[in-house]
Amino acid sequence: MTDYVREYFNRQAQAWVAQAYAGDRLPARFPVGPERLRVALESVAPAVGTDGTLVDLGCGGGQLLAHAARLGWRAVGVDVAPGMMELARRETEGLGVRLIEAVYDESGLESGSADAVTALGLIEYLPEDAGLLAEAERLLRPGGRFAVSCRNRLYNLMSANAYTERELTGGTAPALLDELRGMLEGVEASDLHALAHELATAASDLERAVELDEELVGVRMLEHPTTFEEERRQHSPAELRRSAEAAGLAEVALLPIHPHPLPPGTESLAPRVYNRLALAWQRALGGRPLGLALCTAFVATFEKER
Ligand SMILES: C[S@@+](CC[C@H](N)C(=O)[O-])C[C@H]1O[C@@H](n2cnc3c(N)ncnc32)[C@H](O)[C@@H]1O
Repeated sequence: MTDYVREYFNRQAQAWVAQAYAGDRLPARFPVGPERLRVALESVAPAVGTDGTLVDLGCGGGQLLAHAARLGWRAVGVDVAPGMMELARRETEGLGVRLIEAVYDESGLESGSADAVTALGLIEYLPEDAGLLAEAERLLRPGGRFAVSCRNRLYNLMSANAYTERELTGGTAPALLDELRGMLEGVEASDLHALAHELATAASDLERAVELDEELVGVRMLEHPTTFEEERRQHSPAELRRSAEAAGLAEVALLPIHPHPLPPGTESLAPRVYNRLALAWQRALGGRPLGLALCTAFVATFEKER
């Protein structure tokens, strides 16, 4: 881990949490934080049961831990940034959550002590995969589950932007295209029907979103409060699967987060319309290959061999 990552999250703790968990019925940004938290909790729940133990690596401001504790689970958070730990302490006060300020693989937690391990928004800041997957495998009991979120490299072929250019000029596009094609073979008519139903449900929200966007003309809604200045790694599903298999973890599910209904360059033109559409895509395609092809992130869930 670089000192820059620790320093960045220490300095930007408040701003990062505020923008990731901003609550709004018609959001100008996609609610990445809450959506990936929900998907991760749902996908590890079968391993945790009613009162098992979950360890959250890179726990940030503690939002996932608070949810886990309210579900009756024993929750343990590990994070390297003191500023984030302070927010996590406040978020989880009175909920019996254990917090450990440490690099993810120096927590001192016992091997086999977790029914579930989560790591959301962490792997992209690490220099490689093996350390995180090995630590998740070490912490899990046999049959335990690990949910990890990744920035989706496959989407680079759909985004028509600088990421696409990099894959083309770097010669990495053909292999990604093969993976994407294989994935799109799983699309079914029912996916499009589900989208149509979601859009019908969203119709009045979308009209309101147009009104709100019109009021916002000239306002730079999409400016990030801070700019992380180092590379954040991406994974295609196949790349992550290979790393997990090497660590003795078998895939259970791959779930899309933050689908893009239109080319991402159009988001700033009408952010509330764009992101209300994106929520419809998330709800309709949340477990589907078409969602994975169109999303900028995914949560992968793995199981430790029994
Ligand atoms: C993008 S935030 C995500 C926070 C939280 N998981 C969430 O989804 O809201 C990444 C977190 O990982 C932490 N982090 C980064 N590198 C780490 C490392 N090597 N060990 C432990 N924590 C780390 C940062 O301090 C930060 O709180």
